[in-house]
Amino acid sequence: MIDLSVNFAGLKLKNPVILASGVWDLPYTKIIDFKKLGGVIYKGLSLMPREGNPPPRITEIPCGVINSIGLANKGIKVFNREVLPELKELGTEVFLNIFGESIEEFSKISSLIRDVSGIEVNISCPNVEKGGVYFGRDPETAYQVTKAVCENTDLPVIVKLTPAASDIVVVAEACQEAGACAITAVNTFPGLVIDIDSGKPLFERVVGGVSGPAIKPLALYKVYEVSSNVGIPVIGSGGIGNYEDVLEYFFAGATAIQLGSVIFTNPLAPIEIIDNITKYAKEKGYSNLKEIRRCVDG
Ligand code: FUM
Repeated sequence: MIDLSVNFAGLKLKNPVILASGVWDLPYTKIIDFKKLGGVIYKGLSLMPREGNPPPRITEIPCGVINSIGLANKGIKVFNREVLPELKELGTEVFLNIFGESIEEFSKISSLIRDVSGIEVNISCPNVEKGGVYFGRDPETAYQVTKAVCENTDLPVIVKLTPAASDIVVVAEACQEAGACAITAVNTFPGLVIDIDSGKPLFERVVGGVSGPAIKPLALYKVYEVSSNVGIPVIGSGGIGNYEDVLEYFFAGATAIQLGSVIFTNPLAPIEIIDNITKYAKEKGYSNLKEIRRCVDG
């Protein structure tokens, strides 16, 4: 019997495989057995509903995708009423990714979150006019946002960082100091697609967030940098498509991992990865993940 459980943010997850925010919603329960997952992170929620950016919002690129959704969502109040009851039935740990355009908005939304396992603070979305990456590039603002969230909730707080920070380690340290109990490294990389018919950027907001295999070595290095320098667990994210990628993230220092755009091409990847890590551990004679990972538990 292989024990795949991991501890972070004061929680025990049955395994380290977590669905990232923004790549799934409740219809996926028809395809994926959510009870087998370590956890899920629900798509970025704000205080008030958001329309998001005008189309086009997403396009394929070689080895990945680029999106400019703009954090479209129903807002926390409608979410609490209409979506939360169903999420509570999923049989896995549920985290909410939250977003605000100001520190005050982060405080307010945090105080309205209940009945979930934890909060993932989004200071890393490149596709919005205010907040997002603008907060996550600056250690002082990252500190203020994290502190505001921690002061308004008793839930574990994870902060999702942007690879666009000039020094991601300094930002991670600021979040740790402000009370974060884990770091997600990393969100999408800012990128650009030009429509050659118009000669203009494809997305109205110009910048998009690049994800998928194209960013894996880049994101992996960010995980290595952060996990080598901060004392809280790091959840690795960026271009993971199979169990070999997950192992690389473990060896780089991740405690757990998030699956993002692979869900678009292979929705069964999470279950295949869990099965393949189990097989790998058996073949190598490991009885638990702690023997494989170079990481901090929490
Ligand atoms: O545009 C978006 O909704 C993306 C969100 C994110 O990258 O966090």
